[in-house]
Amino acid sequence: MERLDKRLANTRKWSRKEARELIRAGRVRVDGGVCRTPEQKVEETAPVAVDGVPIAGGGPVYLMLNKPAGVVSSTDEPGERTVMDLLDEGYRNLGLFPAGRLDKDTEGLLLITNDGPLAHRLLSPRRHVDKVYYVEVDGVLDGADVEAVRAGITLADGTVCQPGELEPLPGGRAAHITLREGKYHQAKRMLAARGKPVTYLKRVQFGPLVLDGDLPKGGCRALTEGELEALFRQ
Ligand code: URA
Repeated sequence: MERLDKRLANTRKWSRKEARELIRAGRVRVDGGVCRTPEQKVEETAPVAVDGVPIAGGGPVYLMLNKPAGVVSSTDEPGERTVMDLLDEGYRNLGLFPAGRLDKDTEGLLLITNDGPLAHRLLSPRRHVDKVYYVEVDGVLDGADVEAVRAGITLADGTVCQPGELEPLPGGRAAHITLREGKYHQAKRMLAARGKPVTYLKRVQFGPLVLDGDLPKGGCRALTEGELEALFRQ
C-alpha cells in the first residue's frame, strides 16, 4: 500500500504538491471512485486514473475502440498510423495492444488491453468467440449464400472456413455475418468466394461486447464493470 499522492508523483508527471492539488480537486479516481484524500493508502495494483486517464502501474486496462478505416491494428508499424496513435497520451506507456486485428479498411469494435492472458484466451482458435460484422457487398445476398456460410465455405486456395451465420438485411446488399474464427481477410474472402465482394466492413460485436453506438469513429472508452464481467465469463 502507498499514499495516493505518492503513487501519482511516482509517475514523474506531477510533483507531490501538484498531485495533492489534483486529488483535492476531485480529478483522481481510485478503483473507479473519486478520492479527495492525498494521504489515502491505495493498493499498488489498484487502478488510478487522472481525469479519466489511467496512470501507469495500475491494474490492467480494458478499452473499447471504435476503429476508423485507415489505421492498422498493431502497436507499431513503420509508415502507418496505428490504433495506438488514436489513444490519449496517458495511455501511451501502459503496454496496451489490440486484442485481435481488423484490416486497415475495416471499422468498428476493437478491444485494447494490456491483459495478455485474457487476450490470449479470447483469441485462441479453440475458444470460438463470436465476432459479428456489418457488411455491405457488391451484389445481392440470398438464401444460397446463407446456406453456404452455414455449411462452411472452402476458399479457392483450399482454406476451410468453419460454419458461420449470415443474416441478410432487407434488399440483400447488406448483412450481419457472424464468424467464430479469425482467419486473414476472412469475411471478405468468404463473400468474394460467393461472387459478392465486400465494399464495407465493420465489426459490431466481439464476444459479449457490443460496439457502443455513442463512440465516434476513433473514440475509445473504458469497459464497464458489466462488460468486463461478461468478457471474463466468455
Ligand atoms: N474479416 C475481414 O475480411 N476483415 C476484417 O478486418 C475482419 C474480418
